[in-house]
Amino acid sequence: LRVAVLFGGRSAEHDVSLMSATNVMRALAPARYDAVPVYITREGVWLLSSFEGGALSRPERGTEVCLVPGGRGRMLALPEGAPARDLPKIDMLFPVLHGLHGEDGSVQGLAEVARVPLAGCGILGSAVALDKDIAKRLLREAGLATARSVTIEAASPPGFAEVERALGLPVFIKPARQGSSVGVSKVAGPGEFRKALAEGFRHDRKLLAEEFVRGREIECAVLEDVAGGLFVSRPGEIVPAESHGFYSYDAKYVDAAGAALKVPADLPEAVEGLVREMAGRAFRAAGCDGMARVDFFVTADMRVLVNEINTIPGFTDISMYPKAMAASGVGYAEIIDRLVEHGLA
Ligand code: DAL
Ligand code: MG
Repeated sequence: LRVAVLFGGRSAEHDVSLMSATNVMRALAPARYDAVPVYITREGVWLLSSFEGGALSRPERGTEVCLVPGGRGRMLALPEGAPARDLPKIDMLFPVLHGLHGEDGSVQGLAEVARVPLAGCGILGSAVALDKDIAKRLLREAGLATARSVTIEAASPPGFAEVERALGLPVFIKPARQGSSVGVSKVAGPGEFRKALAEGFRHDRKLLAEEFVRGREIECAVLEDVAGGLFVSRPGEIVPAESHGFYSYDAKYVDAAGAALKVPADLPEAVEGLVREMAGRAFRAAGCDGMARVDFFVTADMRVLVNEINTIPGFTDISMYPKAMAASGVGYAEIIDRLVEHGLA
């Protein structure tokens, strides 16, 4: 089975994708799959990459490929200028792209249009989950608790006083459609608020102001089987280092001591059961299929709030999805096999 692994991409999580895709490539061992890595540059150029000595190459140019619909549910990897008839057929797309232009339904739509099997979540769930504003509306509608928030459109941003009245202090300002905490600020006063909006709007036209929830960060991995049943992992906990204040981009990927993962999380049995049940409901409410990681806050009085859903969760060395699955008896190779099987079904 020839699987095109798409990585890099046009989003701010380009570098995170490289870390994730390296691990996915390792798990797609040559003995099992014919994996073809395709590097998407920050500008959106698609280049044939290679995986040698455990590292993915990031060519600058010269190996441009067009992935084009090849008929019969396949795609052709078409080196620019080459005659189409000699080309290897791609049997499945495996996007390991985080954030916009990859995790947001766009690549999922490309696969759908070309009728090429795709690993992971489809168009609707991807698009919903990537937009924190839309996702929250659906979660609330399904009766799932989330942190209170105010949606901020670039055209008519609310004043600081209005946000403070609605949500108290501090608040988080987040781009609605970003991952890995890119562009997220914690705000306690009007000066910080102005700066946080400016920073947020560098990344998106739509932001969320979100109440600060004093709680633990708990995450569950969800994997759908071919019959539509959901496997929900045991929850894991992220413990950010005090010095970072919150689980920021730096705490995730820059500072090796920025956070610790505790898997499985130490939760009372009933709370663990509730978290896992809510993970499945959140997955369904957002229209997801295939795979997602559902993130929660659990407060000291054991209130459980859904924070967000990630349909292409990180597969980096510090990422929770594979660790939570492993703690539930599903190893890396098996995650990949199940995703492939789900995509082909
Ligand atoms: N957005 C990052 C990759 C994550 O959710 O793990
Ligand atoms: Mg995210």
